Amino acid sequence: MTIAARAKYFADATSLEDLRAALDFARENQLPILPLGGGSNIVLTGDFPGLAVHVGLKGLVLDDQGDYTQITAAAGENWHQLVMRSVAEGLGGLENLALIPGNIGAAPIQNIGAYGVELKDSFHSLTAMEVATGNLVEFSAEECRFGYRDSMFKQDGRDRYLICEVRLRLSHSWQPQVSYPALQQYFSSNGVAMDTLKPEVIAEAVIAIRNSKLPNPVQIPNAGSFFKNPVVDVDQYTSLRQQHPELVAYAAGDNWKLAAGWLIDQAGWRGFERDGVGVHKQQALVLVNPGHRCGSQIVRLAMDIAADVKAKFGVDLEPEPRFYPGL
Ligand code: EPU
Repeated sequence: MTIAARAKYFADATSLEDLRAALDFARENQLPILPLGGGSNIVLTGDFPGLAVHVGLKGLVLDDQGDYTQITAAAGENWHQLVMRSVAEGLGGLENLALIPGNIGAAPIQNIGAYGVELKDSFHSLTAMEVATGNLVEFSAEECRFGYRDSMFKQDGRDRYLICEVRLRLSHSWQPQVSYPALQQYFSSNGVAMDTLKPEVIAEAVIAIRNSKLPNPVQIPNAGSFFKNPVVDVDQYTSLRQQHPELVAYAAGDNWKLAAGWLIDQAGWRGFERDGVGVHKQQALVLVNPGHRCGSQIVRLAMDIAADVKAKFGVDLEPEPRFYPGL
């Protein structure tokens, strides 16, 4: 979120050997590690007393396997550029994920998702370096245990691996995923025929929609959605719906996923500003840091918002980006 902070040590790893050497150094000196990709989904809450490792591994290979194209991408490749390369090749599967900031290495950690598609839908496998040993380990999709904005790399695998390479498979029998209301609205108001949709056209729509409500992190520092959309059971959902008939929620298996942006907006925070940090005017789920303030100010604002939403709706908001040092 463009926050000034210092790490005690910094390594720029452009090869597996670099990465292994950085991990050796951290182990010998008993330093915690802060893996850095694009830096778009972390909040620096103060100086980091360890080793920040920029994972700058590069390489992108597209391999036509008949029924599908396998994409092998090194962790340091930019996510959006990968999406645009795939759609330029006429491949479908990633177009709904256009313009998500960050690098490929971070994508599996939180199973990035947008407009009805998640990384897990095209994910095949990945290779990671084990922090404790420097060994390379492969993980299948199943082993990654992907969930909504979640994977085992946020649970028991947290801080144990550095993702080096990700392999995706894009099926040649692609079907557009355009049920998300914002996409439907975009196509009907722009007169785009739904039966001629190509991956490239969907990517253009996603880019236009994102640009209309999500601030570009290069211009207005932000970490995308600051909270996950909370999932509540049917009883809590029913009672909330009775009190707030206009509640925005989506069925999620036996539970309900609430639009956190709606809760924050209804609580009156959209457009709020305080000491150089604030809540985005077009999307209340996005906290912005136009004043380039320190992370603790962002955290204070986030805690105030979460407490207010809890008081007004009885719902807990869980932050979506990762905090370094942790809270
Ligand atoms: N809403 C409001 N006011 C707001 C914001 C939202 O009322 O200020 C309501 C609207 O009814 C809107 C609904 O909430 O229709 C949902 O909003 P939106 O479509 O913008 O999606 P979201 O649930 O807020 C999620 C992801 C985004 C992703 C979009 C589109 C999470 C935490 N966020 O946001 O992902 O781009 O859906 O699929 O799941 C991110 O993870 O950083 C991110 C931007």
